[in-house]
Amino acid sequence: MDTLKFLYKWDDFLQFEGWAEKISAATKEEKFLLYQPAEKLLEMAQKERIILAINEQRIIVGVIALWAIGKSWNEVGTIFVFPEHRRKGFGQEITRFAFERWNGQKIMSTSKNPLSMHIALKSGMVAVTSEGDMKEVVPLTCVCDESDGVIDSAKCPFRDKDCVFLISAKTAQMINYVARDDEIVQRVRNHHF
Ligand SMILES: CC(C)(COP(=O)(O)OP(=O)(O)OC[C@H]1O[C@@H](n2cnc3c(N)ncnc32)[C@H](O)[C@@H]1OP(=O)(O)O)[C@@H](O)C(=O)NCCC(=O)NCCS
Repeated sequence: MDTLKFLYKWDDFLQFEGWAEKISAATKEEKFLLYQPAEKLLEMAQKERIILAINEQRIIVGVIALWAIGKSWNEVGTIFVFPEHRRKGFGQEITRFAFERWNGQKIMSTSKNPLSMHIALKSGMVAVTSEGDMKEVVPLTCVCDESDGVIDSAKCPFRDKDCVFLISAKTAQMINYVARDDEIVQRVRNHHF
């Protein structure tokens, strides 16, 4: 099996021209991923909050990111393996490496994707809320602006416009998160609930 190498230093990213655009485009296609503009991925990479996994041929096979939430928490997300490299254990390996690297940080994750939950649990995360808790939700982030955004779920009526990521009120309380309450969030919330 391919041995993966993990890159997280900005200088290493410079050898992979167009990586951010490629991953950004991939996030548009995936139902469970929030859209991430390339500029945002680049900004995160400069802060060493992105890990790229490359194989022995120096081809990027996957990515993971650590998004800041509020003042002290982070969300591990943008976990992605390119389709042609899936089912080889890379998703699991990337996640394990990320948790080692970001050890000591307060990290949460929220997903409706059973696959990513499976990987998260195998990587040592603990489930503290479940689908049932989503009856009461809090908008966590709005990652897109109205001009160029796309979003997390193919079903969202705001695809290509606004994007909001919801967590259960219970989770918000646990991480001391105070919801944004701006106009975009309100519109999305009113539409969905
Ligand atoms: C989720 C994702 C990163 C998994 O990557 P991957 O490299 O294929 O996963 P792995 O090969 O490491 O598999 C990890 C586990 O999931 C299982 N698995 C992977 N794909 C599966 C599938 N399609 N169906 C059932 N099980 C699957 C594997 O068997 C393995 O389980 P095990 O360790 O108990 O045997 C990849 O499918 C992906 O990029 N999906 C699109 C983006 C996405 O949804 N990301 C999650 C955001 S919440």
